[in-house]
Amino acid sequence: MSSTTIEARYALAQSIARQAGLQALAWFRKRDELVIESKGLQDMVSAADKDTELYIRAQVLARFADDGFLGEEGGLAHADADYLWVIDPIDGTACFVNGMHAWCLSIAVTYQGKPVIGVVYDPNSDEMFHACAGQGAYVNQQAMRAHGASSITEGVLGVGFSHRVPVSAFVPFLDRVLSNGGMFIRNGSGALMLSYVAAGRLIGYYEPHINSWDCLAAIVLVQEAGGTVNDFLADNGLHDGNPIIAAGAQLYGPLLALIQPT
Ligand code: IPD
Ligand code: CA
Ligand code: CA
Repeated sequence: MSSTTIEARYALAQSIARQAGLQALAWFRKRDELVIESKGLQDMVSAADKDTELYIRAQVLARFADDGFLGEEGGLAHADADYLWVIDPIDGTACFVNGMHAWCLSIAVTYQGKPVIGVVYDPNSDEMFHACAGQGAYVNQQAMRAHGASSITEGVLGVGFSHRVPVSAFVPFLDRVLSNGGMFIRNGSGALMLSYVAAGRLIGYYEPHINSWDCLAAIVLVQEAGGTVNDFLADNGLHDGNPIIAAGAQLYGPLLALIQPT
């Protein structure tokens, strides 16, 4: 693996995220003009998602024409390439279309199947969460560390839920979190909440099913910030999704015990 080519993609991912983010922000400010389509129960898409993904894809391929690309809206191309860009143009679409600020752009790059670059950009707060394997994790220029909590009582846990899984697969977990003195938040953007785990703002994050474009960038962020994440890519997670469990290193075990009690 050439570090030069990783570095070039790391810089490009940040620059594309910022440019695409400003375009998405312009859409957000005139969102009343958007036609919202339904992709399923509580699952929406608009021209803002589609245009932003097309823009990101064009920018990537203009520089690295042979790279692979997996986007939430446009699907997979060049699946066998060494470098694969995995992107969600707008994570937190329900917030976006309803005028709430919890949405972001998520751009990950894998090299030979391993996530090596993670960039999550929040245009509303101008926060760029970014990490490259072996180089640490940053929000803008500031280094990030995952939270040092060892108990669920020491902070706020991020959670996510979609109707891709039955309600019964999630509610007992919430009961255990609250019964053990914990507290949860769901802001509508899995990528942003996972970035907050990397930043030590949330003590951890759990969602019973999430897609790769939602979480792959933030997985690099959490790992580079010293946190622990489950083996998300196991069992075809790239294409089918998986549960995501992320936490500061000391909380990962206790969180897992709440998710899968013995
Ligand atoms: C969703 C958000 C949400 C998470 C869902 C995702 P979208 O992505 O990340 O927080 O719970 O699993 O599908 O639809 O806003 O891009
Ligand atoms: Ca998403
Ligand atoms: Ca999305």
